[in-house]
Amino acid sequence: MNQDELKREVAYEAVNDIQDGMTIGIGTGSTMRYAIEKLGERVKNGLQIKGIPTSEDTAELARIHQIPLTDFSEVSHLDLVIDGADEVDENLQLIKGGGGALLREKIVANATDNFIVIIDETKYVKTLGKFKLPVEVVPFGWEITARAIESLGCQATLRTKDSNVYITDNDHYILDCEFGEIHHPEQLNQDLISIIGVVETGLFINMAKKVFMSRSETQSVIKIEN
Ligand code: 5RP
Repeated sequence: MNQDELKREVAYEAVNDIQDGMTIGIGTGSTMRYAIEKLGERVKNGLQIKGIPTSEDTAELARIHQIPLTDFSEVSHLDLVIDGADEVDENLQLIKGGGGALLREKIVANATDNFIVIIDETKYVKTLGKFKLPVEVVPFGWEITARAIESLGCQATLRTKDSNVYITDNDHYILDCEFGEIHHPEQLNQDLISIIGVVETGLFINMAKKVFMSRSETQSVIKIEN
C-alpha cells in the first residue's frame, strides 16, 4: 500500500467510531479529506451528526459532502474530534500544523475528551522533531518573534506558498521551526507560548486520547490508547 492508500484506510476505519446524534470536530489535511468523504457517505445513508470544521478548507469540503455544520455559539462540548497529525510519539504527543490549521485545530481538540488522531505508520516516531514544528505568530513584528523563538535553539523559517507569505485562516503567519529531536515537548510548548507574538504552537500535549494508525506490512489499522 502506498501512503495515500494508508491514509484512506485509516480514515475510513476511524469514521466508524462516529455515532448517531454526535457533535464532532472535523480536522484538516489530506488524511481528513478521506474521512470527510466517508462521513459524507454515512450522512447520506442517514447518520445524524453536526460538525465544527477546523479550517475554511474543511468547511468547504464538508458542505460539498452535505455534512451539517455548527459552531461554538451553539456548542460548548464536542462528543468526538477526529484529525490527522504530522508526527505522533510513543506518549501520544503530537506535532500538527503542516496544513496550517493548528490554531483552530487546537481550539476544537480542546473542546472534547475524545480526541482521535488518524495517521499512517510514517508519522509514528520515537521522538518528535524530524518534522519542523509549526508555530503560528502575529504578523506585526514577526521577525523579532522569530529571533526570540530561535533563542530556544532552532532555526525558524517563515512559511510561504506560491512565493507569497502563507497566511492562516486567522490572518497570522507560520514559522516552521527546526529544533531537531524534541525531548521535552511539554516544556518547549510552555517556553514558546510565553513568547510575545506567538499565538499557538503545533505541539499538542496530552490531548490525544486514541491514535488510529494504518500499517502497510499487515495491511491493518491498529489503535493506540493513552
Ligand atoms: C493541518 C494538520 C494536519 O492534520 C497534518 O498536517 C496532517 O496532514 P496530512 O493528513 O495531510 O498528512 O495538522 O494543520
